[in-house]
Amino acid sequence: MLFAAAAFSNAVAGERTQRFAVELAVLANQSHRLLGAGLAPAQRERLRAKVDSALAVLPLLARDCFEEQRRRDDPRLLARLRRLQVVYKHGQFVTLATDLDHLSRRYPVDMRGLLPLPSAPLAVRAGRALYENLCMACHAFSDPKSPAPAPDLFAMARMLSPTQLVVSLLSGVRGTPSTTLVNPLSNQNVIDLAAYLKDGIPPKP
Ligand code: HEC
Repeated sequence: MLFAAAAFSNAVAGERTQRFAVELAVLANQSHRLLGAGLAPAQRERLRAKVDSALAVLPLLARDCFEEQRRRDDPRLLARLRRLQVVYKHGQFVTLATDLDHLSRRYPVDMRGLLPLPSAPLAVRAGRALYENLCMACHAFSDPKSPAPAPDLFAMARMLSPTQLVVSLLSGVRGTPSTTLVNPLSNQNVIDLAAYLKDGIPPKP
């Protein structure tokens, strides 16, 4: 029985360990976007605000992750995470991106049970139902004048690699770091949504 239960649990990393890894991956990605040209001033402002608040939460997420793994705090890691905030405040975005890349490789998102994405009609249909019930109200009718418009998830999905898409779904639907720490979607939900956003047709609003 125990073995059967284990076989059905597809998330191998615990929720809080996964959350720390997802946050690192998202931050690494965002810090690269800060380095790039081609962001409108309002977008850059918005991105900076996100990076700023995410960096402040990172040490707490690391603590959570140690706690979940019943490991003692790692003061060197915590100091390194706090240093990222200083690096950011000094506008050293290259250092920030390099260090976040490195950390993200050391604490990778656990993709077991999430990739490869299915393209089966069943997954796409399940993803469509989730999208219509949970996402569409904001993401299909977003106000372009809002300071933080909800992005078009279909356009986003088609630009990203499957790994990036899964990571952004794992992070984006949790709201801001200060709201909820628990991902409302199961791994199966994330897979279905990703399959639909990549391969499905957007519903007519
Ligand atoms: C209450 C409105 C609302 C609902 C419901 C909602 N979102 Fe969002 N979502 C937003 C807004 C607004 C943003 C942009 C936030 C920002 O830029 O800070 C966003 C951002 C995102 C992002 C991040 C995109 C990026 O820039 O990386 C993802 C991914 C995402 N949402 C996925 C979803 C999915 C999937 C669902 C349904 C399961 C969902 N959201 C439901 C309002 C919503």
